[in-house]
Amino acid sequence: MNRISEYSALAEAEIRALDFPKDEFDGLYAPVAYGMQAGGKRLRPTLLLMAADAFGKCPEKALRPAVGIEMFHNFTLLHDDVMDKSDLRRGRPTVHSKWDENTAILSGDTMLTLATKLISEVDDSILRPVLDTFNDQALRVYEGQRLDMDFENLDEVDFDRYIEMIKAKTGALLGGAAKIGALIGGASSEDADRMYDFGMMLGVAFQIEDDYLDTFGNADTFGKPIGGDINNNKKTFLMVKAIAMGGPNADALKAALRMPAGPTKVKTVTRIYEAMGMPAVSKAEVAAYSSKALAAIKKTSLSDEAREAFRKLIDKLIVRTK
Ligand code: IPE
Ligand code: IPE
Ligand code: MG
Ligand code: MG
Ligand code: MG
Repeated sequence: MNRISEYSALAEAEIRALDFPKDEFDGLYAPVAYGMQAGGKRLRPTLLLMAADAFGKCPEKALRPAVGIEMFHNFTLLHDDVMDKSDLRRGRPTVHSKWDENTAILSGDTMLTLATKLISEVDDSILRPVLDTFNDQALRVYEGQRLDMDFENLDEVDFDRYIEMIKAKTGALLGGAAKIGALIGGASSEDADRMYDFGMMLGVAFQIEDDYLDTFGNADTFGKPIGGDINNNKKTFLMVKAIAMGGPNADALKAALRMPAGPTKVKTVTRIYEAMGMPAVSKAEVAAYSSKALAAIKKTSLSDEAREAFRKLIDKLIVRTK
């Protein structure tokens, strides 16, 4: 199998086939099904399946863990949307706005446990390294999310701290997905670690692009409210880099960032980013991290043909609109 869409279709079908209890606990599982069956790019399970197939030609063996990694991702989104006060995801109301915050917390907890069970459906011989990888990446995600919240209360964050934050909140899960797939495929521990590095660098590029789209994307395709990061005082690539660039525009930006949240602030900040050429600066950074991801793949023992599939995945994510 070598087309990205075939891997994501495999994951999608397995997710659609998930069965949740519809009884007195519908209040617990209905939001789980709602979160899981709302579409999304299915990047993480696709990456896991691709890695398993690249090393062992066995994507089917990786299907349940792939669903598990997507379940974990969706758990983080339920809680992230509460933390970010975000009402829209994938073009639909978020769980906490459709139900309530307590529902998002408890159904999120449920998803974490369901994810762990699904991830555990691997051969006993690799259960320990797979669970260690899964749990370690999970802790990194929480650490990154904590930094993301802490940064909301700071006026400025330097660029290296920003990269550290997104490596944790986004890179670790993509790294974990790639590594778990590699382990299922029978990769050596060295190759599995290189795959983690690949996912990590891809994740950094992916989050910088997400930050860009949060300001410059189209709400209809992006499926999330545009300007949410600006209104939440998030330390995004755009903000951190623009301030680091300095000059009169950066001073104007600092003043604009002190405006009260609302459409006027979003418009003002966006205009300053445009005047500073931030869309191009952002694209260049995404390209730089994509090259780092490619360099990690080149250090594995994979054939040129197998590497090519991952290069295509990078290309697909760079030009995305959602
Ligand atoms: C959203 O992830 C969270 C980030 C790390 C930016 P995705 O952009 O992969 O979300 P879906 O699953 O495709 O909706
Ligand atoms: C998400 O970062 C990282 C997670 C661990 C969920 P964002 O807060 O930017 O993700 P979106 O934009 O809401 O999807
Ligand atoms: Mg967030
Ligand atoms: Mg968010
Ligand atoms: Mg975002």
